[in-house]
Formats: sequence, C-alpha cells, structure tokens
Amino acid sequence: MLNRRQTLAGLGAATMTGLASPALAQSVSKIGLILPMTGPFASTGRQIEAAAKLYLAQNSGSFGGRRIELIVRDDTGTADVTRRIAQELIVNEKVAFISGFGLTPLAFAAAPLATQSKTPMVVMAAATSAVTEQSPYIARTSFTLPQATIIIADWAAQNGLKKAMTIVTDYAPGLDAERAFRQRFPEKGGELVGDALRVPIRNPDFAPFLQRVADTKPDALFVFVPSGVGAQFMKQFVERGLDKAGIRLIGTGDVTDDDILNEIGDAALGVVTSFHYSAAHPSPENQAFVRAFRAANPSMRPNFMAVGGYDGMHLTAETLKKTNGGDGTQLIEAAKGMSWVSPRGPVTIEAKTRDITQNIYVRRVERVDGQLYNVEFATFEAVPDPVKGR
Ligand code: DHB
Repeated sequence: MLNRRQTLAGLGAATMTGLASPALAQSVSKIGLILPMTGPFASTGRQIEAAAKLYLAQNSGSFGGRRIELIVRDDTGTADVTRRIAQELIVNEKVAFISGFGLTPLAFAAAPLATQSKTPMVVMAAATSAVTEQSPYIARTSFTLPQATIIIADWAAQNGLKKAMTIVTDYAPGLDAERAFRQRFPEKGGELVGDALRVPIRNPDFAPFLQRVADTKPDALFVFVPSGVGAQFMKQFVERGLDKAGIRLIGTGDVTDDDILNEIGDAALGVVTSFHYSAAHPSPENQAFVRAFRAANPSMRPNFMAVGGYDGMHLTAETLKKTNGGDGTQLIEAAKGMSWVSPRGPVTIEAKTRDITQNIYVRRVERVDGQLYNVEFATFEAVPDPVKGR
C-alpha cells in the first residue's frame, strides 16, 4: 500500500504532467460489456466478446482519440445478475456505455438503470421488438424477431407451403416470432394448422412437441429457438423422422446458427430460413470481417451474435467521435439516424425508434467446400422492425 506521502507525491506528478502537456494526457472512455459468458447461452457471450475485441484491436484500442477500456462481465444469463452488474458498472466504474445483453429478459432488467443514469445502452443480441421501448437510451444493433419472421412467412406462402404449424421457445422473442408468423402467413394465403407450440426455455425437451407435429402433418414447421439451441432441436426433428415425413423446416436463422451449423451436420441441408446475417454473405466487407475474426479466433466461425457485437462497437466508436466524447444524452442523440455498411450489408439506426433497419436474406443450408453454410438466394432490402415501423 502507498503511504500518504507517496500518494500525494504521485498526485502531484500526475497534475504536473497534465499541466505541462495536456495533449499527451489521452482521455479514457469505459465500455461495460455485460454478457452470458457461462451457462446455457455462453456461446452468445463468446461470440460477442470476440467480435468486440476484434473491432477494438482493428482500431488500435481507441475511438476518436479516446483510449477505450472494455470491461467484460459475466451475467450467466440471469436477469438479477445483469441488473447488479449494470448498476456497479454505472456507479463505480462510471462507464460511458453499457452494452451486450444476450437475451431479452437481461435487456429488460438493465433498461431502467440506463434511463435513470442517462447511460447509453447498446443492445447487441436481444431481439424482442419491445426491447428498444424500455429506455430512450437504448440503441440496437442485432435484429428483431418480427423483422426476420415476416420474410420467411411470405416466402413459405409463395413457395407452395400451404399448411404450416409453429413451434417456439416460450419467452418474449419466441412469442414475437409466433405472433408475426401467425399473422403474416394467412395474410399471404397460407393456412395455420395445429396448436401454437411453445417449449420451455430451461432444459427444453422438444420430443413430445415434435410428436404432435408428426401427428398433424403440416407442409411446413416454422421454428424459433434462441442461439445455441438449434443443434438439439434439429437432432430431435430428425430422430422423430419429421424430415422423412416430408415436413419442411423453416424459421428465422437462429436455428441454423453459423456457430453450430457444422455440428448439426447433414440434417440441416436444405433448411430455408430468413435472417440478417450469414457468415457466407458474399460482400467484401463480410469477407474481410470473417477472415479477421477467424485469424483472431481460429476455432470459431462468426455468427449473427458476433456481427451484432462488432456493429455495436462501431456505433459506439462513431458516437464518441461525433460528439467528441459527449455525455450520455449527446451520445444517444448521435446514434439516431446513423448509417453504415456492416459485414451483413447496409444498416441504419432509425432516428425515431433507435432500432435497426437492415436487409433480410432468404437462405438455404448447403455444403460449400466441405462445410455447411446458410447460402443467401434472395434479398429484401432495408426492412425496418415491422411492429414499430420507421
Ligand atoms: C434472443 C436470444 C437469442 O439467442 C436469439 O437467437 C434471438 C433472441 C433474445 O432473448 O432476445
């Protein structure tokens, strides 16, 4: 421990340095990154952390001349822990941003703290439409379930899939996806059959639900499961023989997540989904992103969580530059209306909703150079969240 004399001497020296050459005293902005790094949703945390660190490294650790200190904290996917960590980062660490939020309930838990403390909150993963309405300090760089879902509902109705059933994980984003599909598919001439199936989020067993799908025999089964759960769902889908029974699996791209696609294996071939990101997106920006991500993390393929984290850091960097390190209110104001070219394609943070407008792609799982990928074959440009609009 320092004694009082040493402390004062140290302070004096720091002050002198500051007075002598203020230009050398680079200011620091802290970013609190709150993620599930352990527990059932650890893959979300791992992907976002890797991408955020990559963005920071590519910018030499500073945004607009401000040195960035990234503080990563594990909330284990538990809302009480998210809230406690957010409080501590805001009050003790005095972070300029709270970022991350791997699941909708975790974003909901932190939102009131962002409002009270006027701290910008960058949602990089959680995807229920209503997330951005929980605080005027939230901006989102992931997607919304209705935004992705309406595109596959249209595609199914227009491609001979007349009767469809739905199965979702029973929490907010699943219910958002279910609502969007069940509204849109009949509007486009499709018919809903069977019950709206909802599977518990903790320790899900899909088998009894899939048996009901087998009994109902729809042309297509629409599915939403959160990132990381798709492999288990697909395994049980095939074990029940639903693929052999001619039931087409469709969904948002969470089920054929790039992180686990090769692990799912051939069972995923031919599955058609709609989504905002595929590691196989053929743009130069994405090819550079995937190359750099893999060079820094040789055992990983970036998925949609990674791109949400990467773009969240980009939004953070640009708001810091634009405001020259402004206060929380200036930073969130700066985020409104911002547009850039992401690895996923062009994106905009809508000024009114602070939510993301982006391309949604229709993709089919194919084998490319021995690896499974979601290969995009149709693009719907500049899709806003359909619930809130622009
Ligand atoms: C959410 C989590 C996911 O892993 C996902 O793929 C989509 C949505 C969520 O909790 O909002």
